[in-house]
Amino acid sequence: MQLVNGFTLMDYAEKNHLVLPAFNTTNYELTAGIIKGFEEAGLGGYIAISSSNLKLSSPKIIADMVKSVMKDISTPVALHLDHGKSFEDVKACIEAGFTSIMVDASHLPFEENIKEVKRTVEYCHFYGIPVEAELGAIQGKEDDHISNEDAKTDPNDVLEFVQRTGCDMLAVSIGNVHGMDLAPNLDFPLLQKIAELSPVPIVLHGGSGIPFDQVRKAKASNLIKVNYGSDLRQAFIRTFGEAYESDHNEFDIMSLSKKAINNVEARVEAIIKEVNNH
Ligand code: G3H
Ligand code: ZN
Repeated sequence: MQLVNGFTLMDYAEKNHLVLPAFNTTNYELTAGIIKGFEEAGLGGYIAISSSNLKLSSPKIIADMVKSVMKDISTPVALHLDHGKSFEDVKACIEAGFTSIMVDASHLPFEENIKEVKRTVEYCHFYGIPVEAELGAIQGKEDDHISNEDAKTDPNDVLEFVQRTGCDMLAVSIGNVHGMDLAPNLDFPLLQKIAELSPVPIVLHGGSGIPFDQVRKAKASNLIKVNYGSDLRQAFIRTFGEAYESDHNEFDIMSLSKKAINNVEARVEAIIKEVNNH
């Protein structure tokens, strides 16, 4: 199957009453595990890569790899830029064939956040690609980005932000955290208030560590997408770590890579099914 356009994927989620998981990749093994996991679960979603992770490779390398691995599957998957940190990254990803974009200007003051998102939306919509934007700041560690700021999304800003930016999905800060070091503590009344005010569906970052029943509960608040990064990275790293721990002379990178793919695939399949009670 070819990569699916982000708007098409959003329609698919709405029609089928699904929450779409977005899984962050870094390399071939994570990519293969993620795509196989989607196929095994029989449901669609996002494969994503963050701006900071793109420093390791490039939008084109990632897009070519994902497209090539996607050939063997039949479930709809969009390729998403996660936490897009610059307009240059956004343009490079669109050019490489990404089908969904996030611009993260949440660290900027309100008016500057709006300005940055608005110009990204104008650019991406010209190419028929949807844009996710973030309002409020999410605490924790995301790749090489560490945020100590815990600024929950202010519901009073939501409608104005979405209307003035034209964004298609809204990432919120409601006690969700990035990484495994902090414990999430979701504020459901706040989420519900935001959802009632937002004309677009909601995105939850920091999926790793959020109990699945809470993700399912958030679905009632127009949740369309939930992001997973650390969970899969641990499944990948653990494979090599355990092999090294049991034998310091271990050097069979090929069979360990295959094992890592299988371990990532199993996590992806389990997460997709848990999130959607499938
Ligand atoms: O954007 C990516 C996610 O928010 C990943 O968060 O590593 O806590 O699952 P996580
Ligand atoms: Zn995130």
